[in-house]
Amino acid sequence: MSHDASTNIPALIARYDGNIPRYTSYPTAPNFSAKVGADVYAQWLQALPLDQPLSLYLHVPFCDRLCYYCGCNTGVVRLASSRLAYARVLMREIAMVAAALPGRARIAQIHWGGGTPTSLSAESLVEIMATIRQHFDLEADAEIAIEIDPVNLPEDRLPALKAMGITRASLGVQDFNINVQQAIGRAQSFEETRSCLNKLRAIGIASINIDLMYGLPHQTVESVCATARSVLELAPERIAVFGYAHVPWMKKHQLLIPRSALPDALGRFAQQEAIRETLRREGGYIAVGLDHFALPGDALTMAAEAGALHRNFQGYTTDAAPALIGMGASAIGSLHQGYAQNATRVPDYTAAIEADHFAVARGIALSADDRLRRSVIEQVMCGDEVDLEASSRHYLGRADALDGVLPTLQALEADGFVAHHGSIWQITEQGRPFMRQVAACFDAYLGQAATAERFARAV
Ligand SMILES: C[S@@+](CC[C@H](N)C(=O)[O-])C[C@H]1O[C@@H](n2cnc3c(N)ncnc32)[C@H](O)[C@@H]1O
Ligand code: SF4
Repeated sequence: MSHDASTNIPALIARYDGNIPRYTSYPTAPNFSAKVGADVYAQWLQALPLDQPLSLYLHVPFCDRLCYYCGCNTGVVRLASSRLAYARVLMREIAMVAAALPGRARIAQIHWGGGTPTSLSAESLVEIMATIRQHFDLEADAEIAIEIDPVNLPEDRLPALKAMGITRASLGVQDFNINVQQAIGRAQSFEETRSCLNKLRAIGIASINIDLMYGLPHQTVESVCATARSVLELAPERIAVFGYAHVPWMKKHQLLIPRSALPDALGRFAQQEAIRETLRREGGYIAVGLDHFALPGDALTMAAEAGALHRNFQGYTTDAAPALIGMGASAIGSLHQGYAQNATRVPDYTAAIEADHFAVARGIALSADDRLRRSVIEQVMCGDEVDLEASSRHYLGRADALDGVLPTLQALEADGFVAHHGSIWQITEQGRPFMRQVAACFDAYLGQAATAERFARAV
């Protein structure tokens, strides 16, 4: 980002740093309640229109190590019998979902997330994919993505990934600096990472994503730039750069990270900018949305340029499917009617599915106002132009539904974060790192007692 000389970054950061969601959904997960349970979910599935293909998300909450910073729903589970049992429950849920739909559905995208999905055995991975193919019709060009921990990928998973038809692998790196790695409990050499990446390419996986993080203990502008340069040597098609969300009140193991070793808001901002500039200037990557980078010509870059980018629980995607079905413990589905999240704990999830009930424990049905704000927030987070009056008319039949947001938008405009002509607003280049703050002004739930202080810091 280039700021003009008059821009007072420390003052802007001081003003806009706060606890704000990442808006991978709207309303956000803390607004979910038990009003949406298994019965409501079954009705939603039964009413799903099947004229367009669906997407699937499969969550595997197991890892071979527990990184101190991790905010995902996962745990170290080494017992092969527990992993096998989970795979069987997942297959049962796949069959249950298929049976609840009004017909046989087509699938455009599958995302295996976690945790570390490859902690399931090679046989289980292949068997689960076969179960999906048995119950659904995969589109010929379906994207099948999987998250991988490069340090823990046994050799027998490679032929399994090939048999599964994986098209994109997402590798966690975070940082190659040894001091940082020690402070986050995650040892991972550049060589190990390169070797894993080469093996994935050798089995025909054409698209590789690498995850980096800033705001971790002991990171500096120099250290994050050094990591970014090492990643450029690996030439992944995509890079995601996440700001460390320190939420020890929700993730107790994050207490292993001493607060005193964490950079402050200004330090985080500088690290984020430094990674961004390194990837753009030295690697030729294009910034996509809040935190993704992709090579020119990559489907994500092209979607961003065409205004066809989407945002879901996995971040940014080209996935335009109207419904995402989540399977596995804690998985969240996004259906036309609303969001539905499975029970977080594996025993609760397992007990429900084994009793032939959906494991949905919470969610939220969308009102017309939610749909309007969801659409506007997604457009903001994708960097698209938003026509507030046209959107309001489309969802609520009147042009002034979002007028209450205008004073906040005008304040953001005065700080150079947004610009507008008429009722069409867009984030400026300077406003990009503050996208969440812009999105937040459309959030009707923010600041309510149930959700206050549950998010990580915004800068
Ligand atoms: C499921 S993990 C990645 C796959 C694999 N388990 C691994 O660690 O290599 C997804 C990504 O989430 C990001 N992440 C995890 N915890 C985070 C946190 N507290 N704040 C921000 N990003 C986080 C990391 O970049 C991580 O690579
Ligand atoms: S970052 Fe990956 S390997 Fe580490 S605990 Fe989280 S999901 Fe597991």
